[in-house]
Amino acid sequence: MCGIAGYIGKKEGLETVLEGLKRVEYRGYDSAGVLFFQNGKPVLVKRQGKLANLERVLRGTVTKGKGSTQGINIGTGTIGHTRWATHGMPDEINAHPHHDCKKEIFLVHNGIIENHQELKDKLTKLGHKFRSQTDTEVVVHLLEENLKKIKNFDKTLKKSLREIVGAYAFAIVYTKEPDKIYFARLGSPLVLGLGIEEFYLASDPAELAGKVKKVIYLKDGQAGWISGTDFKLNPVKSKIENLNLTAEQAQKGNFPHFMLKEIFEEPEAIRTAMRGRLFPKKDLVKLGGLESVAQKLKKIEKIEIIACGTSYHAGLLGELLFEEVAGISTKTIEASEYRYRQNAITPNTAHLFISQSGETADTIAALWKANRQKGITLGLVNVVGSTIARETKAGVYNHAGLEIGVASTKAFISQVTILNLIALYLSENKSLKRKLSEELALIPKKIELILKQNRQIKSLAKKYLKFKNFMFIGRKYNYPTAIEGALKLKEISYVHAEGKTAGELKHGPIALIEPNFPTVALVNKNSVYEKMLSNLQEIKARKGKIIAIATSGDKKIAGLADDVIFVPKTLEPLEPLLNIVPLQLFAYHFGTLLGYDVDKPRNLAKSVTVE
Ligand code: F6R
Repeated sequence: MCGIAGYIGKKEGLETVLEGLKRVEYRGYDSAGVLFFQNGKPVLVKRQGKLANLERVLRGTVTKGKGSTQGINIGTGTIGHTRWATHGMPDEINAHPHHDCKKEIFLVHNGIIENHQELKDKLTKLGHKFRSQTDTEVVVHLLEENLKKIKNFDKTLKKSLREIVGAYAFAIVYTKEPDKIYFARLGSPLVLGLGIEEFYLASDPAELAGKVKKVIYLKDGQAGWISGTDFKLNPVKSKIENLNLTAEQAQKGNFPHFMLKEIFEEPEAIRTAMRGRLFPKKDLVKLGGLESVAQKLKKIEKIEIIACGTSYHAGLLGELLFEEVAGISTKTIEASEYRYRQNAITPNTAHLFISQSGETADTIAALWKANRQKGITLGLVNVVGSTIARETKAGVYNHAGLEIGVASTKAFISQVTILNLIALYLSENKSLKRKLSEELALIPKKIELILKQNRQIKSLAKKYLKFKNFMFIGRKYNYPTAIEGALKLKEISYVHAEGKTAGELKHGPIALIEPNFPTVALVNKNSVYEKMLSNLQEIKARKGKIIAIATSGDKKIAGLADDVIFVPKTLEPLEPLLNIVPLQLFAYHFGTLLGYDVDKPRNLAKSVTVE
């Protein structure tokens, strides 16, 4: 989704802002723009498409090559934006920054102005001329209008914010105060980076990695300004926090894509998720983030898990785990549905919100609803300081590190690991707890063995590259894994992939099976193994090709499947942690062999901050 970068301080702002925007390219966008001061005058440059287009123009006309300052003013405000179109086409006019009629106020925005039409009608009647189709442009004209009467920009901003309905993170340059950048936040993330004689604004902490050590995650309703030497924040109460993110974490290293790097980081993501939390020998799971609600959790009778996309698939696994391991009735609901449903309010229910980014608009809206209904709200979030992390009553962080590839991989593995930990934390079944804890501790090593088959999985992707449709099937724990595998393939390869419970095949989807419609089947040696073999027979009888993910040492499977990827034996509830890895690698190679940029699939964004 959209990205914001702002800089003011001792360095030349343009390079710094462009660098910041590059760090959020992974979130997905379709146009970009910057506003900076050169020879004392504001310069606005916007382009459709990738940042490289914008940079090309800047190098050609403004900076005359990398590193050349060419009169770019130090100590003046620079703001930049990458836009993911919501209102209006992804073109140059709709790209940010937007400006008022007199070109004195320039603004970039993430979020949505819900009452934009009403404000636009009012401002048009007052003579304001609108250029774009965006909801954002209304804000600069509103500021311009209010400034006429108030004459003070700080106060004008405050008044204007009271008139806006919606979600926003703003960075604003008022050209009569070039040594300041104004900002405000409500519902869209914005981070203030505190350097020495320099200040940054960023929509994503990744922009600040390696640049500052201290940050303030702005809270909803906060607004203020930064200058080269100082900052002002209202309401003032804020925590200065350490930014534990290195520049290396925001880079690909030796991997061709972030997605591959992140898949290879999965063993470490699991170890980090368990570190200081799982003590198999002592039968102990410690989850510090849940301590404050520990007494309430002892009494819960029901859990509702709410999330979107891959996080929702992790939730479906959580549902099975909470029921089997902890004996607590659980339901998983997509956040986009939950927010509009007339749900029965039940006592002693905990609501668990799962989100990698912590900023997904539907999940946040669902959380607000649960908070209004006075439920216990818990978060399972990767991005520290994000909205969902802050607005849930208690929760557990993934600590999986930055996930940049748009297709979620290591965050999923980490979410499933933590759902296991929560299930163990809530469980009173000592023997099951001991067995699962001991086996969970072995999972990272088992994933390392699967990663060694990377080349073989690439060959398999090559072999199946000509197919345009795939069925993914599994039962019990392998059903959420199957639909997650299908999602990975479709989102980065643009081929049709359907995930189904194997038992449902004969109720309709089997009609699709023929030699050109292969099935990826998750057939581990577990409680439903024989049932899965029957399903495979049904597929074979219709001449369907089968790629099986099976347990090492399984001799029967070779007679049924066309191709097999073996994974180590583990306990049934932990199979998803192993099975998903070959599916992620298969999707990765399928997408790259087809020539797609798997880190930035079309139409998708890393953090879906709009509904
Ligand atoms: C798919 C993917 C998305 C996200 C979904 C929720 O690979 O990444 O489906 O899982 O948009 O995002 P978060 O977890 O940030 O709430």
